[in-house]
Amino acid sequence: PLPERFTTPLRIPPVATPVAPGRYLMAQREAELEIVPGTRTRVWGYDGVFPGPTFDVRRGEPIAVEVRNELPAPTSTHLHGGVTPAESDGYPTDLIVATAHADAFTPGAHSHMAVAADQWRLHDGGREYEYPLDQPAAGLWYHDHRMDFTAPQVWRGLAGMFLIRDEEEDRLGLPSGERELPMMICDRAFDADGDFKYPAVDDSLLAEPGVTGDFHQGVEGDVALVNGTPWPVVSVDTGTYRLRLVNASNARRYRLERDDGGDFVQIGSDQGLLARPQRLKTLTMSPGERFDVLVDFGGHRVGDRVVLRNLLGTGEMAELLRFDVDRGGGTGYTVPDRLADPVEISAEDSVAEREFAFALTNHSHGQMWTINGRPFDPADSLASPELNTVERWTFTSDFHHPVHLHLAHFRVLTRNGKPPVPEDAGWKDTVDLRPYEFVEVAVRFTGHRGRYMMHCHNLEHEDMAMMANFDVV
Ligand code: C2O
Ligand code: CU
Repeated sequence: PLPERFTTPLRIPPVATPVAPGRYLMAQREAELEIVPGTRTRVWGYDGVFPGPTFDVRRGEPIAVEVRNELPAPTSTHLHGGVTPAESDGYPTDLIVATAHADAFTPGAHSHMAVAADQWRLHDGGREYEYPLDQPAAGLWYHDHRMDFTAPQVWRGLAGMFLIRDEEEDRLGLPSGERELPMMICDRAFDADGDFKYPAVDDSLLAEPGVTGDFHQGVEGDVALVNGTPWPVVSVDTGTYRLRLVNASNARRYRLERDDGGDFVQIGSDQGLLARPQRLKTLTMSPGERFDVLVDFGGHRVGDRVVLRNLLGTGEMAELLRFDVDRGGGTGYTVPDRLADPVEISAEDSVAEREFAFALTNHSHGQMWTINGRPFDPADSLASPELNTVERWTFTSDFHHPVHLHLAHFRVLTRNGKPPVPEDAGWKDTVDLRPYEFVEVAVRFTGHRGRYMMHCHNLEHEDMAMMANFDVV
């Protein structure tokens, strides 16, 4: 039974607390949560919660996170948007296997991708990930990245938010505390017992990867969750709020709109503050993208209700959340015209050009989602950009493919040869590639050398081989 809309308060995920300065510990485990009031849902969560704990950390203060896996299936944790050494980047074949379940898992036995035996690395019980955090303030997120099984494991709950702050952001005095709301948006389907329903070929997630026939284009649910709450309600006053939005859905895109005609004032993109704010009436988010926006309720009276709609959804998916203006006297925020001085680059800085085609192609196992016609092979690499250079990359597509690069951040230069859309503004690590589009980006390779990946962030496409390595040399 689906919950009554706009009755459950929005939950704010717990904030991760260090066990020692700069050291965190998270255990991945199964838990039963009350997601739909009155029912129990089994989730796989970081620390048994969904979304996982939110990291609230600062630029220039490195942290180490020890992840322990107590789940029956292997895991790999990726910090999405992180400028992370390759060793800690959560590579799909670099897995943590719970000691108690080690016998049940044979690496790659059933993978439909060509993975040589020597490409697997298994950590017994847990491992440490190091995050230098030498990057500007931004809203990142972390999630599972296991080879062949990222989609079902994220669907079960392995995702959380990760906020980096810095002095440039502090100086803006942005709405904070109760006025800063992390919002992880995703869709889920539920079965009759109240558990998440996912069309996995093998529900144990130990043998055969993949989804049943009709779902190759991506799995969507019929319930909208914000921070793991279906259609929540948020009690607000007549002030300004800062929403840290992430689309953590496997495959669903959203186009947000306020039903009061109000604006979203975008102040940040995937990779932090924009140089200048921009006002948007609608905001389209593909899987993996983040937006940092201000919403103001100053024109409202106590008792007003503001629904956050999804213009790309029908029926129940056409609405996500409701703000109830319950109190007057809110604190407004005047957005400065100049937010930050981000590093700027342009097409002229580029030292090489490359093209990557994201498309369904035919292979011996049948049709696969591929990049340049090649299904993912961890031993293979499609590009070797040099550290501290800029390259111009063009992505082409046959479908909706949210293209994500690990390590490297980029600026969108053009879409189909025309100017970018407003959602492309700022520094990005994920771009919404729409059917038959070509998008040109200027990518900057900084931070670390090593093997990183690019992939489609439609997680079913990712699990069906739409990934490729690049080596920063
Ligand atoms: Cu958010 Cu490689 O992923
Ligand atoms: Cu895709």
